[in-house]
Amino acid sequence: MQETSPFLPVARVGEIPAGTGKTVEVNGRLVAVFFDGETYSAIDDLCPHMGASLGAGVLREGTVVCPWHAWRFRLCDGAWCDSPNLKVDVFETRLVGDVVEARVPPGESLA
Ligand code: FES
Repeated sequence: MQETSPFLPVARVGEIPAGTGKTVEVNGRLVAVFFDGETYSAIDDLCPHMGASLGAGVLREGTVVCPWHAWRFRLCDGAWCDSPNLKVDVFETRLVGDVVEARVPPGESLA
């Protein structure tokens, strides 16, 4: 039986301005959490191009724009818009009261 990762807190409601994101360490990984004004999304923070923090990117029409060279990744499935075979991980999110939680599988230690 496959073990399911637990939901873990990543932000509080009101903490992330609409149209932006932030980077948090969760379960040994860096996760970019975004708020589009209605819903929260969470993806792997590391841009696969040259390693920028996607949490510092801006949201545009369901995508995050990397702050370094403007590659765009879809929040729904993590795909790079220019070549959807390249993807970053996407993590399930939910709201529990005023806490945003994400289901993030364990990563390698960041220590
Ligand atoms: S590091 Fe993200 S587009 Fe270059």
